[in-house]
Amino acid sequence: VVPAGGMEDSEGPEYGKPDFVLLDQMTMEDFMRNLQLRFKKGRIYTYIGEVLVSVNPYQELPLYGPEAIAKYQGRELYERPPHLYAVANAAYKAMKRRSRDTCIVISGESGAGKTEASKHIMQYIAAVTNPSQRAEVERVKDVLLKSTCVLEAFGNARTNRNHNSSRFGKYMDINFDFKGDPIGGHIHSYLLEKSRVLKQHVGERNFHAFYQLLRGSDDKELHEMHLERNPALYNFTRQGAGLSMGVHSALDSDERSHQAVTEAMRVIGFSSEEVGSVYRILAAILHLGNIEFVETEEGGMQKGGLVVAQEALVDHVAELTATPRDLVLRTLLARTVASGGREVIEKGHTAAEASYARDACAKAVYQRLFEWVVDKINSIMEARDRDPRRDGKDTVIGVLDIYGFEVFPVNSFEQFCINYCNEKLQQLFIQLILKQEQEEYEREGITWQSVEYFNNATIVDLVERPHRGILAVLDEACSAAGTITDRIFLQSLDAYHRHHPHYTSRQLCPTDKTMEFGRDFRIKHYAGDVTYSVEGFIDKNRDFLFQDFKRLLYNSSMDPTLRAMWPEGQQDITEVTKRPLTAGTLFKNSMVALVENLASKEPFYVRCIKPNEDKVAGRLDEDHCRHQVAYLGLLENVRVRRAGFASRQPYSRFLLRYKMTCEYTWPNHLLGSDKAAVSALLEQHGLQGDVAFGHSKLFIRSPRTLVTLEQSRARLIPIIVLLLQKAWRGTLARWHCRRLRAVYTIMRGFRRYKVRAHLAELQRRFQAARQPPLYGRDLVWPPPPTVLQPFQDTCQALFCRWRARQLVKNIPPSDMAQIKAKVAAMGALQGLRQDWGCRRAWNRDYLSSATDNPTASSLFAQQLKKLREKDGFGTVLFSSHVRKVNRFHKRRDRALLLTDRHLYKLEPSRQYRVMRAVPLDRVTGLSVTSGRDQLVVLHARGQDDLVVCLHRSQPPLDNRIGELVGVLSAHCQGEGRALEVRVSDCIPLSQRGARRLVSVEPRPEQPEPDFCCVRGTFTLLWPSH
Ligand SMILES: Nc1ncnc2c1ncn2[C@@H]1O[C@H](COP(=O)(O)OP(=O)(O)OP(=O)(O)O)[C@@H](O)[C@H]1O
Ligand SMILES: [Mg+2]
Repeated sequence: VVPAGGMEDSEGPEYGKPDFVLLDQMTMEDFMRNLQLRFKKGRIYTYIGEVLVSVNPYQELPLYGPEAIAKYQGRELYERPPHLYAVANAAYKAMKRRSRDTCIVISGESGAGKTEASKHIMQYIAAVTNPSQRAEVERVKDVLLKSTCVLEAFGNARTNRNHNSSRFGKYMDINFDFKGDPIGGHIHSYLLEKSRVLKQHVGERNFHAFYQLLRGSDDKELHEMHLERNPALYNFTRQGAGLSMGVHSALDSDERSHQAVTEAMRVIGFSSEEVGSVYRILAAILHLGNIEFVETEEGGMQKGGLVVAQEALVDHVAELTATPRDLVLRTLLARTVASGGREVIEKGHTAAEASYARDACAKAVYQRLFEWVVDKINSIMEARDRDPRRDGKDTVIGVLDIYGFEVFPVNSFEQFCINYCNEKLQQLFIQLILKQEQEEYEREGITWQSVEYFNNATIVDLVERPHRGILAVLDEACSAAGTITDRIFLQSLDAYHRHHPHYTSRQLCPTDKTMEFGRDFRIKHYAGDVTYSVEGFIDKNRDFLFQDFKRLLYNSSMDPTLRAMWPEGQQDITEVTKRPLTAGTLFKNSMVALVENLASKEPFYVRCIKPNEDKVAGRLDEDHCRHQVAYLGLLENVRVRRAGFASRQPYSRFLLRYKMTCEYTWPNHLLGSDKAAVSALLEQHGLQGDVAFGHSKLFIRSPRTLVTLEQSRARLIPIIVLLLQKAWRGTLARWHCRRLRAVYTIMRGFRRYKVRAHLAELQRRFQAARQPPLYGRDLVWPPPPTVLQPFQDTCQALFCRWRARQLVKNIPPSDMAQIKAKVAAMGALQGLRQDWGCRRAWNRDYLSSATDNPTASSLFAQQLKKLREKDGFGTVLFSSHVRKVNRFHKRRDRALLLTDRHLYKLEPSRQYRVMRAVPLDRVTGLSVTSGRDQLVVLHARGQDDLVVCLHRSQPPLDNRIGELVGVLSAHCQGEGRALEVRVSDCIPLSQRGARRLVSVEPRPEQPEPDFCCVRGTFTLLWPSH
């Protein structure tokens, strides 16, 4: 389903065909008409399948920016009008979806808009990545974007074809992590056109950096570098002094660019010392360019005969490069030569030699500076701390923006290299897009109608073939002994390639006056004929610089940046070194590596077309463009595309990606082969008409089919994710459960261990518990584990009982009554009365005792005998003399006798005659005080309360209240009835219905306890000494 606002809507028929493949007729005329029509309507982009054709509009079009980016983000190629963003998006998606390294190759001639295109691509990638704003990724993106500005300052220059022409090739790798965020990058630069430092064509400029330095630095900075603001004052910049930087001179002034570049270097991470070094080196090059040499009269050509015309310049160079002045001067005027062994001699230059050396030095310094800047950016952008096992595999998008094919009135070694590079890239294009495709159709047995195209392999071969190729012949000339001139080189070329269809020279074609004898040769490039002048070929290929300069700069005392650019200056002069590779061979090697690298990636192509030679907006010169269309092989591209298929995939990979969209193939198919499974899948979707089945691959004709499949896959992915999540959650839960079980087992074991250990400990401690007389009284119970707390409580209780039993067991039966009484007394009085006399021996029947009652014990015994006969009691519970008070406040001495049947009040002075006898089962309770006094109130049902104080005891004031309470309580307990024992210091009384209180008052001077009565309240006066 194409969303609303898709390409169909905004690309009506009046805009021509958005894809050349859709043209009805496939002729050059139709192609050009469509290109022209679209260009006139501001549609500068058109597809050929996945290849984007772009025409430089030479004006600002409202096609870019965040809104446009949002329109393309996440879309398929055909959903929106053709655009660079769509290609960037496709490359990005291919990388993300399939983890494939991709590359975007931008080609076209100088000024066709390659660099601009690469910038838009970078902007797109920067805009759609890192939604989570990770700082490291933001940093990398920032450096990626900012590096362009710095590299353009040092590597771009105004040429007659392009005001901002890249004078170096650039291939930038961007590394992405598994989430698709850029985490690093690397820039390869190729063959900087360094001869531009020395000399430029009319109408051209040196590299921007020089003019930016002169025009953008402030006065102070200029003064420090001994520079004047006017570029016309310097040999190297004089030519371009009158020219501005670009077409929109108001916008891109050198001044402003200088600020921008300085700021960009700072943001990227150049230290201020490094930026200073860079500018000082540029200044030194400018000064170097102004140095002239004069041969003095007397010296002639001998040593010492050469002088520098402006000595001050030498000072400046020495100062700016932080090298000794004398050494600079010596290096400019002479060279040291190792003359066998360790001997070194100095050989003076002629003026021409010195100028040559100076120029070589200026070029080399600039080149090293440029390379250093690139390396510096790389070191900052490098993806750091990556571990593929931890972070997953990095993927890469490469963007290639390399100089386009160029033809000048005079073409030299640089143009030769540049055009060779374009031949190589065209080869790659043919390999990838045309040849490989056709070969694959054949291999897979797909019906296919062959398309003719021009294969430029033969031209590539002409240049790079070992031994005979132009580069090999050039190297041979460079390494030959003796003076080999460019002319001799041309002659050997002629000899080797006399019959090559793409090579010619004046020698071989004497009638062609457009070439000069002994100077020019011509190559019929795929993009057109180019006549090269051999002048300077050998020199540029050899790329020679006297070792003295390298040593000089390496030994710069104060400038580590400069030092770092000249590592080979370290070598001793006498060291014999291998001949360095020539510039041509280096370039060839780098091209081979580049092409190999690109071929290993999934390529996307942007083919740039320059509409006119005059850089004017809105004009498309038919002839000019037709030429480019022809040599870029665009028509063949369309034909191959029309005949071909948008996509192909091995059946297994296709299934892997789309098997979830069909019930026969999900999760695994049971059909005879993958091919059959794919066929079933496509039939279910009704797409079988748009595909062809190869031997091992499926060929899909239109992207729409692919998109349909992608969409149904996208719908199913969340369900599969859920499924996986379910399984994974289940696994996690099972793991958790297993762990819990283990924990519980351990806990159980541990508890069991704790219980066992506790029991063992108890056993150990209580071994001694049987030992009399303590029976384990002092044994400490160890704190039990929580589970054993109730058990231990029970045990402790049991133990106490057992111990009690052991103790009781040993008491003689005669003591038992006393013990029982004491226990009963304790139960009633413990904690309530100060002393209840438990330490005493309880004798009970004190009136019968001769010690207690010496005068009347026999009398009492007689009375007791009489009473026993009369009332038939069994035992005497208690007997004592008492002082009593009655309700008439009368105080009398009496005796109290308690048998197991009655409570008697006796009259001691009349042979213990019974005054009152109360059956014991009527006695309901006793009241005593909490003090030591012997007051007791006896309560009986239907009787007045009896208020008495035990007295006349031996020893005097013996404490017998506890005993009375104890024996009576024990007796009642034995009879199974309750006895109420109250302890109070103010005892309420009831006598014949009247309520009274009785309390105790200690009286030290009182000889005997006695009662008194004050306002109806009884008080026992107690002798309290
Ligand atoms: N999409 C565009 N929109 C507006 N102007 C453009 C566009 N593309 C290119 N230009 C204009 O064309 C000029 C040249 O473009 P660019 O520098 O990209 O060419 P190039 O192909 O890199 O050339 P060279 O091979 O010389 O480096 C730019 O400076 C700019 O003015
Ligand atoms: Mg460019």
